[in-house]
Amino acid sequence: MTIEEKLRFFVIDIEEVDLPLNFNKIFGNDKPVHLEIGSGKGEFIAKKSAIEKDVNFIGIELKPKRIVTITKKLDPEINKNVRLIKLYVDEKINEFIPQDSFDIIYIQHPDPWPKRRHHKNRLIQNKFLDSLNKILKINGEVQIATDHPEYAKWIQKIFNSRSDFNSIFENGYSMERPQNHISTYFEERWAELGYHPTFMFYKKVGQNEK
Ligand SMILES: C[S@@+](CC[C@H](N)C(=O)[O-])C[C@H]1O[C@@H](n2cnc3c(N)ncnc32)[C@H](O)[C@@H]1O
Repeated sequence: MTIEEKLRFFVIDIEEVDLPLNFNKIFGNDKPVHLEIGSGKGEFIAKKSAIEKDVNFIGIELKPKRIVTITKKLDPEINKNVRLIKLYVDEKINEFIPQDSFDIIYIQHPDPWPKRRHHKNRLIQNKFLDSLNKILKINGEVQIATDHPEYAKWIQKIFNSRSDFNSIFENGYSMERPQNHISTYFEERWAELGYHPTFMFYKKVGQNEK
């Protein structure tokens, strides 16, 4: 299959499809759907989807070149449970994704925007979590990893201030690699420089209003 054919197979153009997205129609089945935001170079979604065949995976990535890089790692036979969307995700994500869609949302090494004046650009903000809460199923999880210690504290502070998510880890985070962890390109680059990821997993509490 050429790269153009693979792009046609894997990439959903949200300008071209009916919204909100209908995952049963997109995948042709009603298996659970997991979302990865900021798929980067695609190691995670390519490996995870090959292992977890009974799950459908949506990867969202804003950079067009990275969409091509991810697609090159995917095989339409091995990874037929994957679709990609090129999009800048923000608090409006729930406008094109139905309520109660995902069992897990993965956000690995989101851009840390280290300068204080750039903190407003950080993905993890209360309004964004309001939207993630809507598109998660009851008992669904947001799983986040970051190598940036100050961003880790920022993330914990925001989640701890909310009653609609509970940390899965007793003290709010873990420095241990979770079982079956798949490390990503950015995680490995930062590990070479001596950084260690903080893992923060949160479970949605309560139901969406219909
Ligand atoms: C630091 S990289 C991490 C990539 C990958 N998750 C990993 O761990 O290797 C952050 C990625 O998220 C993408 N990204 C950042 N903000 C985004 C947004 N608002 N919506 C979609 N993708 C975003 C960037 O283009 C980049 O590929």
